[in-house]
Parts: sequence; structure tokens; C-alpha cells
Amino acid sequence: MTSQLTLAQMANEVLMTADGHEKTTLSRRYAAAWRQARNEARDEVGHSSDCAIKIGTAQPPLHPARPQKPELLNPRDVPKRKPGSEAGRIALLHAVAHIELNAVDLHWDIIARFSHVPLPIGFFDDWVKAADEESKHFKLMCDCLEALGSHYGALPAHAGMWRAAEDTAEDLMGRLAVVPMVLEARGLDVTPGMINVFRNAKNTQAVEALEVIYAEEVSHVAYGSKWFYFLCGRDNLDPKVVFHQLVRKYFRGALKPPFNEEKRADAGIPPDFYWPLTEDIKPIAGV
Ligand SMILES: [Fe+2]
Ligand SMILES: [Fe+2]
Repeated sequence: MTSQLTLAQMANEVLMTADGHEKTTLSRRYAAAWRQARNEARDEVGHSSDCAIKIGTAQPPLHPARPQKPELLNPRDVPKRKPGSEAGRIALLHAVAHIELNAVDLHWDIIARFSHVPLPIGFFDDWVKAADEESKHFKLMCDCLEALGSHYGALPAHAGMWRAAEDTAEDLMGRLAVVPMVLEARGLDVTPGMINVFRNAKNTQAVEALEVIYAEEVSHVAYGSKWFYFLCGRDNLDPKVVFHQLVRKYFRGALKPPFNEEKRADAGIPPDFYWPLTEDIKPIAGV
């Protein structure tokens, strides 16, 4: 029974489910159970409620279970395809589906891995909601792939995406800095261009799906900055200084402009957080 599991155990179960559709279906079911338990608790006793599902603690796997396909390649070995062709657009949707599946695991992983850290319950509400939305995003991308005669697993994918999670497995502030505030914020920068690719190709289904993703990703980045600021405030740390230290420590390489400054601002990330992290870029002649 769902209600007998703690939230951390639910997170672990999602992480240990290999098949993408099974993983995301379970993720959505547990997110709904959590939402219901939280709503019931609020109805009964208002803000200081006791939720029927406990947070609990869990030992998440260092690597989540993954399906046999797609084959995971070193980033430099993943074939680059031009988005001007249908094959290129399928590759783009496949890459986004892969990112979404990783994001499902990343959000459940932050719940399980840091379940022992004393945090307000709203921290868990936010990441459960984000995990639920990522699960929906994965399914939307799978539907788009299937409409074009392909499917998730048909192409090779990027193996490097879990690295940020491994590197920050012991560091919650590092995790927040690198995953939502760098990697997911990067999604805000590049998604409008992707939407244009599919608008030009008159693929309404993909345009609508990517617009849902674009709108919802702002809140994931915002959850990251909100809890990053919270932890800085709790320890009396300067958020900008700590952000720069942690991104330099855990993120390999400089951040790449152009930035979507408007959406980053919506998500609570000011320009002086990310612009100084572009400084390491060495201009290459002719590029
Ligand atoms: Fe997403
Ligand atoms: Fe996200």
C-alpha cells in the first residue's frame, strides 16, 4: 500500500525502476499520493499539519536503474544531427526525452538522498511536484517521438548527465547550485530556440509539448534558488559567493551565454550569479 511507504522509500522505488514508462507512471502515482496526503493534512489541521506519509530516510542507489536502450555514449560520441531534417528533429526530441528521464531521477534523488537533512516540508512538496512534471514531460516527448515513427531508446543518448548527481551526492547546496540553478536554468536558455525549430517544421504537437516544458521548468529553477537561499540564510552565508564557489567546484567548464535573463529572473537567479561564471571561456580563433 502506497500510504505505508515513506516519501524517501517512494523516491527509492522510482529510482530503482528501470523502464522509462514504468518509472514515470510510478513517479506520477507517488506524487499524487503525496499531494493527497498533504491536502488531507491541511484540511484537518491547517498549516501545522501532520502528513500521513512520513518523509522517512532512504539510501538511494548511486546510479538509478535505467532501461537497456538507449545505449549511453560518451557525450563526444553522440552523433550531432542538423535540426533542419526530420531525422534531426527526432534526435532533438530524443535528447529532450532523455533529459526529462534523468530529471525525474534527479528530483526523486534529491528527496531520498537528503531526506536526513532537517528541512521544511515545503522542500519535499516542491521536488515531488517537479518530479511529477518531469514525468509528464518524458511522456509528452515519447508521444511526440511516436507520432514521428520513433521511440525513446531508438537512438543513443548522453551518458554524462548523472555526473552532477554523483559529484554532489554529499552536498545539498552543491546539488541545488549545479542541478536546478545551472543545468535546468540552461534549459530555459535553449528551449525557445527548440520551439522555433518545431514551429518552422509545423509540428504543433511538439511545439505545444515544449511550451508546457518551458513554462514548468521556470518553477524547477525557482525551487532550486529558493532552497539555496534558504540554506544560505540558515547558515548566514552570502548566496552569490557560495554559488560561485560551488559551481566552480562541481561544474566542469564555464557557463555559456546567451542567457534567458527574463526567465532566469522569474526563477530568482540574478545576472551577477551567472555572468561571472562565463569568464573562464577562452576565445578560440575563428569561433
Ligand atoms: Fe522537464
Ligand atoms: Fe525540470
